[in-house]
Amino acid sequence: MAVKPVRRMGDPVLLARAQPVGDVPSAALEALVQDMRDTMAALDGAGLAAPQIGVPLRVVIFGVQANPRYPHVAEVPMTVLINPVVEPLSSEEEEDWEGCLSVPGLRGLVPRYHRIRYRGVDATGQPIDREAEGFHARVVQHECDHLDGILYPMRIRDLRHFGYETILFPQGVGGPD
Ligand code: NI
Repeated sequence: MAVKPVRRMGDPVLLARAQPVGDVPSAALEALVQDMRDTMAALDGAGLAAPQIGVPLRVVIFGVQANPRYPHVAEVPMTVLINPVVEPLSSEEEEDWEGCLSVPGLRGLVPRYHRIRYRGVDATGQPIDREAEGFHARVVQHECDHLDGILYPMRIRDLRHFGYETILFPQGVGGPD
């Protein structure tokens, strides 16, 4: 149980395809998930993928609590998702601003599917099968991209919409990482 250093863009582990988790549950998986929770909480992130702390396994966590200071940010249930499968439920896409703990200080306008279905198991092996839309769907797509070596800047269509958070949003943050 520890806050781990977050790997930053340029580190090869962020570009690799992560491997499926074989045993669920396991003590090793439990320890990994706890490290991820501790690290995400310390950095006030909305999500984290195992490769971001240097572990090339298909594990993501995410969650956003309702916060009256950010009424435009929707609540996302705290979730541990292992061996995820994500599929779009329609071809409809929308663009919105994203950040990433591995790309600190920057924001970009990223297209994502509006509605998705995602499946996997939690750390106890219980199946997860949900439909999500909007910000919830965006967070899941962002985190699961990490498992395939994709960082959000790779998905920006117009790099004029990529820059420093303090310059883009001098009045305050556009949304959580
Ligand atoms: Ni990220």
